[in-house]
Amino acid sequence: MRMRKKKHLEDRLAACAEVMIYMQNQNEFAEDPLKDELFFDSMRVFGNDNPLHLEIGCGKGQFIIELAKRNPDINYIAIEKTPNVIVTGAEMLMESGMKNVRFCLGQAEYLHHLFRPHTVERLYLNFSCPFPKESYAKHRLTHTRFLTIYNEVLKSGAEIHQKTDNQRLFEFSIEHFSANGFRMQNVSLDLHKSGFEGNIMTEYETRFTQMGLPIYRLEAINP
Ligand SMILES: C[S@@+](CC[C@H](N)C(=O)[O-])C[C@H]1O[C@@H](n2cnc3c(N)ncnc32)[C@H](O)[C@@H]1O
Repeated sequence: MRMRKKKHLEDRLAACAEVMIYMQNQNEFAEDPLKDELFFDSMRVFGNDNPLHLEIGCGKGQFIIELAKRNPDINYIAIEKTPNVIVTGAEMLMESGMKNVRFCLGQAEYLHHLFRPHTVERLYLNFSCPFPKESYAKHRLTHTRFLTIYNEVLKSGAEIHQKTDNQRLFEFSIEHFSANGFRMQNVSLDLHKSGFEGNIMTEYETRFTQMGLPIYRLEAINP
């Protein structure tokens, strides 16, 4: 079901301008090489060059805000393509006054247009849309198409942390991580019973856990 557009969405996003980054879309990148000034600049945005961690498909941002609170020496950017949901996170962030997080309205497809090669140290994929129809497999955020893009921006040895309730997506992800040379560690088929410490629940994780579903988790290491 399509979510109804929130009231005053544009005004609300505009009021959060200081915590927002806007990813350029593909058409604005007709030139080759890409314009240097359009790349993300940690010093300009955060005033430091602390390690950079991303979340893709952050939804309303509950996870990233809590993670950033726990790790003030890491810079976080939470990317989401849907303005209707990202606005909630951006407003929470404005209220919190935290300095080490930004929300980015944009698509994983254009990640390499925003981040310079090999500058990102970790990437979180939490409850990514499973796109169950095979004809939509290329939209899954762990499809080889995306892993190739992530490889461009991730440092060597960087980690992708994935959580999902969807067994088929988890299997698919393992296949694609493997085929692209990622090594996997800390693989869990039931995260909440695994003894894993420090887990931060996302909005979808809370929902699925209340339904009694197991949560799958893994860490994939960039080759
Ligand atoms: C199922 S929700 C999960 C939200 C949140 N991570 C959680 O666990 O509560 C997946 C989110 O990913 C976003 N998304 C899907 N494909 C995306 C893409 N290619 N780039 C950026 N965001 C995407 C959707 O808009 C949606 O908000």
